[in-house]
Amino acid sequence: MITRRNFLSTGIKGAAVAAIAPVLPAFNGSDKFSGGDKIKEHESAEKGPLIKKYQPEQSFGLGGVAIGNAFRPTTDRQAQEAMEGAWAAGVRYFDTSPWYGLGLSERRFGHFLHNKKREEYVISTKVGRLLKPAKEIPDTMWQEPSPFDYEYDYSASGVRRSIEDSLQRMGIESIDIVFIHDLSPDNEDMGSRWTEYFKTAREGAMPELTKMREEGLIKGWGLGVNTIEPILQTLEVADPDIFLSATKYSLIEHEDALNRLLPACGKRNVPIISGAPLNSGFLAGIDRYNYSRDIPAGFKEKRERIKGIAKKHGVDLRTAALQFAAAPPEISAVIPGTRSAQQAKDNVQSMKVKIPADFWAELKKQKLIAGNAPVPV
Ligand SMILES: NC(=O)c1ccc[n+]([C@@H]2O[C@H](COP(=O)([O-])OP(=O)(O)OC[C@H]3O[C@@H](n4cnc5c(N)ncnc54)[C@H](OP(=O)(O)O)[C@@H]3O)[C@@H](O)[C@H]2O)c1
Repeated sequence: MITRRNFLSTGIKGAAVAAIAPVLPAFNGSDKFSGGDKIKEHESAEKGPLIKKYQPEQSFGLGGVAIGNAFRPTTDRQAQEAMEGAWAAGVRYFDTSPWYGLGLSERRFGHFLHNKKREEYVISTKVGRLLKPAKEIPDTMWQEPSPFDYEYDYSASGVRRSIEDSLQRMGIESIDIVFIHDLSPDNEDMGSRWTEYFKTAREGAMPELTKMREEGLIKGWGLGVNTIEPILQTLEVADPDIFLSATKYSLIEHEDALNRLLPACGKRNVPIISGAPLNSGFLAGIDRYNYSRDIPAGFKEKRERIKGIAKKHGVDLRTAALQFAAAPPEISAVIPGTRSAQQAKDNVQSMKVKIPADFWAELKKQKLIAGNAPVPV
């Protein structure tokens, strides 16, 4: 049997790096975003023990929420162009979920990826909701989704079934990272009952994913959630490799994650993928905050102040937001969602910009970001 230790050391990660290296963009804004072998040496030196857990080699990826028709319909062609634009710009890490568009995002990613060489890209998807064909499609945040309903299942067999469904939907032979999805108090289907689902996952999904990792079926697992508490609890009771923390570490709101989440993950050497680094579009200038049109009081004004300072230093807000979310050593990758090729290219370009240190200093001086927040160097 392949053990976890020799699974990792037999070079699955190394093979992916070798394949990815020639096409990675040189992220000039910071050495952290350089490609190929250099990134490996650099990250080892910079991140030290953090590298012990599996993480995608790329520190920049593409998130699949908009590809699953969040907020408004995206055509198949637009979605394909967004993925092609990201790929052409050098992106090789992709995150999706059965939940996104009720299967639509996975199907689109699969259509795009199934004839790519498997070792050339890293893909993460999620478990926790099983999809069932339905005439009555439930009312969700997805616009014109696939004709499915969903059912929560965080059991061991549910997880195996979900992964098998995802493989079939995408038409690919393996998944690199599996995140247990939306097991969180902000999930409106659960609310305070999330702890009951957590108990099921603790006894079912978590040990099963560890087992699948030991069997060499996946490279790593963790939680994909929009709150901090479930991650902290998982660190106490299981052996995760990597987390997807969404909405909690952004330019406009990060104190809680900075002071509780990052130190806890750092202590356990579990890296974090930063989801929703633009707060679902707010930091790209859209009046939507964390998937809602209800924007917290004072946030628009705060955004304007940061934008004004950014302009003074020749930086755009979205660029600052993406680089800020990627800066902490505990953050393995930042994965903005995009709906078009242009957005995908612009976001990659943002990671190449050298932002003046004075910009970050001014944000700290004006208390617009936390004084102890790491900033890109
Ligand atoms: N619980 C979880 O596991 C969880 C939760 C949230 C997110 N995530 C992951 O994190 C990824 C990122 O989050 P997200 O996509 O929800 O939000 P996000 O990255 O914060 O924002 C994405 C949205 O910002 C806008 N945008 C992005 N790039 C832009 C550009 N260059 N110019 C103008 N506008 C731009 C687009 O809005 P429009 O589409 O309106 O144009 C896009 O859909 C997700 O796709 C998903 O993979 C995971």
